[in-house]
Amino acid sequence: MSRTVKTMAKIIDGKRIAEEVRENIASRAADFYGKYGIKPGLAVIIVGDDPASAVYVRNKKKACEQVGFYSEVHEMSADATMEELLEKIRALSCDEKIHGILVQLPLPGHLDENRVIAAIPPEKDVDAFHVQNTGKIMLGKYDFLPCTPAGIMKMLEHENIGIEGRECVVVGRSNIVGKPMAMLLLHANGTVTICHSKTRNLAEITKRADILVVAVGKADFITGDMVKDGAVVIDVGMNRREDGKLTGDVDFESVSEKASAITPVPGGVGPMTITMLLENTLTAAELAVKQQR
Ligand code: GUN
Repeated sequence: MSRTVKTMAKIIDGKRIAEEVRENIASRAADFYGKYGIKPGLAVIIVGDDPASAVYVRNKKKACEQVGFYSEVHEMSADATMEELLEKIRALSCDEKIHGILVQLPLPGHLDENRVIAAIPPEKDVDAFHVQNTGKIMLGKYDFLPCTPAGIMKMLEHENIGIEGRECVVVGRSNIVGKPMAMLLLHANGTVTICHSKTRNLAEITKRADILVVAVGKADFITGDMVKDGAVVIDVGMNRREDGKLTGDVDFESVSEKASAITPVPGGVGPMTITMLLENTLTAAELAVKQQR
């Protein structure tokens, strides 16, 4: 009787890597406080009562406390007006305790996300969503990187996964993840392909990938037959199954039999994203001090 031996991918432990990076951030923040008497400060604005957003915001506040940052959460009602939200951003823009401002997305439909992001001063835009920061990323000269792609790059670096000259495929073209992710892989000299909902023969392209990053928001969308043997697979998805369980965009069971390394959900990309928000807030505080001197 023949037996097939299934190989299992290395599971990239984002939680552990995030903890390591956070220890380093906490120690830099303590040095910064010792030198200037200033704690890096983050303000998070949340509009409405979307339960998923409430969890993300709570986690951001907790993470700030963990590394010794100052933080504020500003809760606004779901029917807040554009003027009220812009006024809040204006007040935080002038507040010296606050080095980073983050408006949790998505916003209720009556609010214009682009106008809101444009109102955040670029030097306090710790999401790196402002056009000025987006443009700088395109040019490869930036102060902040969007948190999720930055966290993924940090993970790849931590795992000694080289990018130069390798086939990198990004599935998803969002402004928050897909597009900046492709740009960072390109800056690292990867050969980059971006796939999206209109891509033909998706599996043919994903099968070329040495490094496959998936950010489409569809549960278990990428299956083992779409992945090359030995590929590194990064799952950005965070979907809730009908039974209430969290699952990524990658079918972990079948893909982990093909990949050489894979990020789990939860415990993969998610913890790295918040960690990079902390890193950006510290950078914003450092830049603010430099500007004053
Ligand atoms: N909602 C989901 N992800 C993000 C993020 O990275 N930043 C903000 N501001 N909102 C989000």
